[in-house]
Amino acid sequence: MTALFEPFTQAGRPMPNRIGMSPMCQYRAEGDGVPTAWHDTHYRSRAVGGAGLILTEMTDVTPEGRITNGCLGLWNDAQETAFARIADSVHAEGSAFGIQIAHAGRKSMLDGDILAPSAIPFAPDRKVPRALTIDEIGRLIEAFAASARRAARAGVDVVELHGAHGYLVHQFLSPISNQRDDGYGDPFHFALEVVEAVKSELPSSVALWFRVSAREYQPGGYDETALDALLPRLVDAGVEVFDVSTGGNGPARPEVYPGYQLKYARWVRELTGVPVASVGALHHPALAEFAVREGWCDVVLIGKAMLRTPYWAHEAARALGVEHVMAGEYDKGV
Ligand SMILES: Cc1cc2nc3c(=O)[nH]c(=O)nc-3n(C[C@H](O)[C@H](O)[C@H](O)COP(=O)(O)O)c2cc1C
Repeated sequence: MTALFEPFTQAGRPMPNRIGMSPMCQYRAEGDGVPTAWHDTHYRSRAVGGAGLILTEMTDVTPEGRITNGCLGLWNDAQETAFARIADSVHAEGSAFGIQIAHAGRKSMLDGDILAPSAIPFAPDRKVPRALTIDEIGRLIEAFAASARRAARAGVDVVELHGAHGYLVHQFLSPISNQRDDGYGDPFHFALEVVEAVKSELPSSVALWFRVSAREYQPGGYDETALDALLPRLVDAGVEVFDVSTGGNGPARPEVYPGYQLKYARWVRELTGVPVASVGALHHPALAEFAVREGWCDVVLIGKAMLRTPYWAHEAARALGVEHVMAGEYDKGV
């Protein structure tokens, strides 16, 4: 037996293996952030392909929290109904299902005002955001909680809070984007309040995951030591699994090579004592197996390789010599 194909239990329902589909924006929503037939097919086919967990793309908690009009949202009944339909179809294939909830903050590309902790643009050529008022921050925290409540009603197993890649929660964590002089100038304040609010809406059958950028590459950004004090507090507030990525709060990018973010996952695992998912160029099955078996991470999330290969998990099983049954007549494929 391989470690990669062992079940994993901190995802609401047991994942049949340690493979998840990483959140990836599709920009295919219609009518105000509502999932379409594209999303039905996109998510169900990766479940058919054997991924133990399907995480949706960044799904925004308010209309102005979207990057574009094509982004998914979870603030109304039509969206909730569509997500419930996708949850059912993913479950029908034996996979767990999670929604990544988010707000784009200063990375929104919509017309009109965009919002952020401070009036500092993402890059010199991007729109200058308006700094959020204290009242607006309070309403946003309620919006995160309301989306979590809708996600739970839709039947998800995991709510993943997007605290990474330069989106709003990350913007509060970073000295690059948060230069407030009120209580939210404390870089941890917003993230902790959002986690507490979201957690209070989730039944025990839904696991709370948190995607974090363990370090920034932008000059003036934080490195992982800055989060030493935060991550254990997030666990106390209810985070059960960290999904560990890096960067995104400015144009600077890391060098990408197989497993380039594994060291951060391991660091978070050792610091917090909770399971971690790792992501980033983990699509060689032998590397994914090694990462789980050797304790670098508990779950492997696959992004781009699952865009081109919906059956990546099944192909990984074949490569590792694991028997893996596909649904229906698909199992006759050779
Ligand atoms: C098209 C595309 C859309 C993405 N959208 C999201 C997103 O909505 N939320 C998120 O946390 N990461 C997003 N990412 C990042 C991926 O989840 C993943 O972390 C990254 O692609 C590295 O993993 P990989 O090397 O397996 O692709 C996106 C990546 C791609 C390629």
